[in-house]
Amino acid sequence: MLWPKFGAISLCASVALALPRSPASIRKREDQERADAVKAAFQHAWDGYKQYAFPNDELKPVSNSFGNSRNGWGASAVDALSTALLMGNQDVVDTVLEHITTIDYTKTDTEVSLFETTIRYLGGMLSAYDLLKGPLSNMATDYTKVDALLTKSKELADALKFAFDTTSGVPHNNLIFANRTYVEDNGSNGLATVGTLVLEWTHLSDLLGVSTYQDLAEKGESYLLNPMPTSNEPWPGLIGSDISIEDGTLQNANGGWSGGQDSFYEYLLKMYVYDQSRFGQYKDRWVLAADSTIAHLTSHPQTRPEVTFVAEFRGQTQSLNSGHLTCFHGGNFLLGGAVLGEQKYIDYGLALVDSCHATYNATATKIGPERWSWDPENVPADQQAFWEENGFYITVEYYDLRPEVVESFYHAYRITGEQIYADWVWDAFIAVNSTARRGSGFDAIENVNVEGGGTSFDNQESFLYAEVMKYFYLTFAGEAEWQVSKDGKNAFVFNTEAHPFKVVGGS
Ligand SMILES: *[C@@H]1O[C@H](CO)[C@@H](O)[C@H](O)[C@H]1NC(C)=O
Ligand SMILES: *[C@@H]1O[C@H](CO)[C@@H](O)[C@H](O)[C@H]1NC(C)=O
Ligand SMILES: *[C@@H]1O[C@H](CO)[C@@H](O)[C@H](O)[C@H]1NC(C)=O
Ligand SMILES: *[C@@H]1O[C@H](CO)[C@@H](O)[C@H](O)[C@H]1NC(C)=O
Repeated sequence: MLWPKFGAISLCASVALALPRSPASIRKREDQERADAVKAAFQHAWDGYKQYAFPNDELKPVSNSFGNSRNGWGASAVDALSTALLMGNQDVVDTVLEHITTIDYTKTDTEVSLFETTIRYLGGMLSAYDLLKGPLSNMATDYTKVDALLTKSKELADALKFAFDTTSGVPHNNLIFANRTYVEDNGSNGLATVGTLVLEWTHLSDLLGVSTYQDLAEKGESYLLNPMPTSNEPWPGLIGSDISIEDGTLQNANGGWSGGQDSFYEYLLKMYVYDQSRFGQYKDRWVLAADSTIAHLTSHPQTRPEVTFVAEFRGQTQSLNSGHLTCFHGGNFLLGGAVLGEQKYIDYGLALVDSCHATYNATATKIGPERWSWDPENVPADQQAFWEENGFYITVEYYDLRPEVVESFYHAYRITGEQIYADWVWDAFIAVNSTARRGSGFDAIENVNVEGGGTSFDNQESFLYAEVMKYFYLTFAGEAEWQVSKDGKNAFVFNTEAHPFKVVGGS
């Protein structure tokens, strides 16, 4: 229940209590303060970017310079747009909308990742279009710039779509626009890079009323929904990580919920959330993968048997490793449990949320590492005590401003309503704000397990704006139709870059 924690109900709130309003409309004062603190942090990061990097892709906050790792189209600006909208930050919204009208998506000198471009740029523009045409139309100060979001999305998809021009229809991922060729990719593409296009390309098709873009993404995805050979599906629904571009066959039986595979599983469920009438098969595949994960990948570390990790796999052999990217899984199981009305997925999701929290709670900075292991055979001598206390040891020690742990805390808070999860989000915000806030913005840090986080990377990824700040903010921002809903009926679904898309048939 959203009651003030420390007694003192303001006059305003007590008047509100007398009225028949939903509990959600009664905001806790501490939530308001926390939401405002997140907005201030977002503004700080934006101001640094605006001053030293805009309209380039990302801020280098320590040297006050910029990088262009995402084709030089202004990745941070486009990624910041949906968060700025949800925060009601009109100044940032107007700046980014103006910028988008100036981008030429047909040209770039650098290699283009189909996957990264889809989730950040296409996702960012389509989400802003939904919000500005829908619940945030009050923030649309210039309708031509709102319509430009859709025409620019089409321009971008048209520039990218030669990627799918292959014998099987499985796309190449790394593209060279100048001569419409591909970077040498040994004839295969990854599970996540093939399987994390269908939401954005389908939504674009739906908005334009033409099937072209959906057809392209669904053709590539079809090999993942009907995987061959069956030997590379070691358990029902859990499949290998490498796809032949020539014929769509799986090249191995190695995988899991970690980086490189992760958002394929995420989107199986989210396609169903997006449109239950069209994507029932995706839901069925998610259920198979989720049940196989519970049955075959659940793993409890020897030194902390109450902790629940999800192992990676090589065939039917577990590999006792996980990582920050993997920690979206708690939120995904929670979403699945709410949407499908299945308590077992909620319970499992909460166990995963606890274990991801444990990786944050264990370190000197209170931020979790990039990768860890709980394989008792390989414990480094200098982490013996850490392993015994925490049930895992760190194998890759940096933090790259990733969102997944907070994303799962957010889902746990929305779906259970329990304050502890909001407090964990706040703890993570305080940790990131005190350790990774450096120079003119936020920075990846070298080592989460030394006081202060060690040396700087001098790089602020665009997903700091799209994801990290958004999940921090939404936790404290109160009810709105874009929030993940406890009852499993969602009007919006978040793409893997946390850009909310209006679902089909949603109110
Ligand atoms: C396309 O351009 C890239 C980068 O300039 C170059 O390495 C490659 O050889 C070119 N491919 C063809 C077929 O011209
Ligand atoms: C192709 O390259 C990727 C990335 O280096 C690698 O993971 C994959 O195993 C390779 N696939 C084949 C069939 O050699
Ligand atoms: C977090 O770590 C502290 C010790 O630093 C411990 O007392 C506490 O119980 C841990 N919290 C959780 C939820 O495990
Ligand atoms: C975040 O960090 C800034 C700079 O150190 C500080 O002024 C601000 O109070 C911090 N926010 C919170 C909520 O601690």
